[in-house]
Amino acid sequence: MELITKYEPDVERIERFSFSARFAHWGHTVTFLLLLFTGLVLFMDSRWDFLAFIFGGYRGAGLIHRIMAVFYTIIPIVCLVANWRGFVDWWKDVFNFGKNDIKFLLTFPLEFMGFHVNIPPQTKFNGGEKMNSVVTTTSCILIAISGYIMWFPQVFPTVLVRLAYPTHDIFMIIATTMVCMHGYLGSLHPGSGESIWGMWKGTVKSEWAEHHHKAWYDKQMESSQE
Ligand code: HEM
Repeated sequence: MELITKYEPDVERIERFSFSARFAHWGHTVTFLLLLFTGLVLFMDSRWDFLAFIFGGYRGAGLIHRIMAVFYTIIPIVCLVANWRGFVDWWKDVFNFGKNDIKFLLTFPLEFMGFHVNIPPQTKFNGGEKMNSVVTTTSCILIAISGYIMWFPQVFPTVLVRLAYPTHDIFMIIATTMVCMHGYLGSLHPGSGESIWGMWKGTVKSEWAEHHHKAWYDKQMESSQE
């Protein structure tokens, strides 16, 4: 690991997300939002003309939904193959859920409301990000599977096609709730500037990393000295 100082010469930064992790994140965000809004047009079934209009009507929304579904499926698969090691490290960290993650979740409501709280040392992903990873990934996989069943109903048994509609809608609501919370915490929440920079440019200030992800920061420092 090397310290990066190219943005502000006096400020030390460390690498947080690789290019493929960032590409997967933003590719997923864009396709998810387009799928959400075109999906809402289909869901509201001729009651939301103003939104249908943006996508070229109800048929246009259906077409964009299907095209985006393909990108939504391919982007994570390509990034996973391109950066298998990063993917394994992410899930190892997510399932490495210890008492500091529980402590984090207990103090999280105060942090969420903008209070300054002492965070117990967190690994690369804090307790909330670990929960978000599990809930969002599970929801997105179920949305995709149910979506393909709805797309090709002739290929699947009728009972699966019937189950696919409520599955698609319920997990759409769960994933959208998570996306709203995640979006707020990553952009508007006080102190979030550095985390969005990490996902945009790939690096974060060392000082921020030490405060928010002490366990991860210490490990990075140790490996940089080896
Ligand atoms: C691989 C991903 C996906 C596939 C293959 C897929 C496929 C489909 C298909 C085939 C339909 C029915 C369209 C029609 O009736 O013309 C549909 C509806 C819908 N989709 Fe998706 N979709 C995917 C992802 C998403 C995502 C990420 C969201 C939102 C977060 C979403 C939200 C919706 C909604 C709200 C509907 C309307 C459901 C209803 O009428 O009950 N979809 N989707």
